[in-house]
Amino acid sequence: MSDTPAVELDSIWKRFPGVTANAGATLRVRPGSVHAVLGENGAGKTTLMNVLAGVYRPDEGRVLIDGTEQHFSKPADAIAAGVAMVHQEFRLIPTFTVAENVALAESPTLINTSRLETEVAKLADRFGLATEPDKEVWQLSMGERQRVEILKALWRDARVLILDEPTAVLTPAEADELGRITAAMADDGRAIIFISHKLDEVTSFCDDATVLRHGATVAGDIPVSTLDATRLAELMVGEATAVSQRRTRTTPVADRVVLDVAELSVVDVHGRAVVDGVDLTVRAGEIVGVAGVAGNGQRPLADAIAGLRPTQHGTIRLRGESLDGRSPRARNDAGLAYVPEDRIGVGLAPRMNVIENAMMRAYRALSKGPFIDRRAATRHADDLVERYRVKVAKLQNPMAGLSGGNLQRLLVGRELDVSPAVVIAAQPTRGLDVQGVAAIQQILLEQAASDAGILLISEDLEELFALSDRILVMHEGSIAGVFDPDTASRADVGAAMAGSRTAAT
Ligand SMILES: Nc1ncnc2c1ncn2[C@@H]1O[C@H](COP(=O)(O)OP(=O)(O)OP(=O)(O)O)[C@@H](O)[C@H]1O
Ligand SMILES: [Mg+2]
Repeated sequence: MSDTPAVELDSIWKRFPGVTANAGATLRVRPGSVHAVLGENGAGKTTLMNVLAGVYRPDEGRVLIDGTEQHFSKPADAIAAGVAMVHQEFRLIPTFTVAENVALAESPTLINTSRLETEVAKLADRFGLATEPDKEVWQLSMGERQRVEILKALWRDARVLILDEPTAVLTPAEADELGRITAAMADDGRAIIFISHKLDEVTSFCDDATVLRHGATVAGDIPVSTLDATRLAELMVGEATAVSQRRTRTTPVADRVVLDVAELSVVDVHGRAVVDGVDLTVRAGEIVGVAGVAGNGQRPLADAIAGLRPTQHGTIRLRGESLDGRSPRARNDAGLAYVPEDRIGVGLAPRMNVIENAMMRAYRALSKGPFIDRRAATRHADDLVERYRVKVAKLQNPMAGLSGGNLQRLLVGRELDVSPAVVIAAQPTRGLDVQGVAAIQQILLEQAASDAGILLISEDLEELFALSDRILVMHEGSIAGVFDPDTASRADVGAAMAGSRTAAT
């Protein structure tokens, strides 16, 4: 193998109005390696990758692929040079099938649907990517969508593949599988850039690492074998930070049930039950964790409680009152807060600015008659940004300019700011750096301490064990087990997640 890096980014600067996202960042990636890019929320990782992928032109600095300097002015230029990126927020067309999403833009001549599907299936097989080419994307789980994005890159024969927080949307088993896929692609001579906040993944999936802080490279080309998680965390945030610890209850959970879900069923477009007779209760001050492999009904359950999806059967009561037939907004007004998993789309409006997004929840309090009180709205946004430590240069900037972790903070802050009776939080800490995770978990604990009932849906077992009073496991739309985090083992919960119905306590 030659010594020429597959990718070399040399002193990249990228400024946005009021913020310098990249301040002389450098990165060198060997061909045939998996290279981690690390850094806290807002460190400039996504921006740097967007420069490499031709989304942004750098203000200064050079981009070299296989030793040749490039001047990308659009993503198509980068793709032509063999660079493909799987974005933090997916860019698939929901009403197209998997095969169409993978291949159509590139091969418009392949309009024979079954032939297209066969070709896509063949490619998926070669890299061990499980997918159903004839399914439409809106029907897919986040993990499945991600495999479609990777297939898209492979279809274009990318030699450099950028994965921006790929495992944030995956279950532990899917993440391991992705580790195998990236290893296979590296063995094939490709260069993989892997952004992650999960240090254990970095140490098991990646060969080298580069750490960014405040837009600059603080450590480059570190072989991960020489680093432990503590050292990596120190490099990223400049200090060692503790991970989730089991909380200790100071007061017993009250008897008052604030959320009562009985025999709830939700069907998909084919009439298949995706939530199948679920019974659950959440009491005031209680945190009920919901564990499960993605795609086992957690999302439709949350959406149904929030009123975003019709229920086929069953009742949902909030503080004893039925929510039947009430709109999502009426449920909000009745005291239900929802932090959806899909932050762009359901939760936030990317083109609107930070003030407008911050206001979406509290707008009635901020209006004077039919008009919005601009000043009050700005104060409200300012206050949320301050309290939830959202890193944003100007409140007038569009939401789309915020980093992934900062979007999440604003969304969580906005939803929880109204002293709700019940909080449905779906993957609230996904994609956050260690400090962000700690901040959001603290907010949930404070909500519980002030008597909100919390349904915490998470794919992070450590988080569920640390925060929950009880853990429910969902499998194929049903509750497959109920566990006491003080006595249950991770293995028991894992077994229930995989569909074994033993050992429920
Ligand atoms: N299009 C844009 N317009 C304005 N500011 C932007 C834009 N894109 C990024 N920024 C800002 O640049 C900084 C770096 O953002 P970036 O998305 O690169 O961070 P990140 O390291 O990927 O963070 P995260 O871990 O949260 O995804 C942030 O302060 C962000 O708000
Ligand atoms: Mg990012």
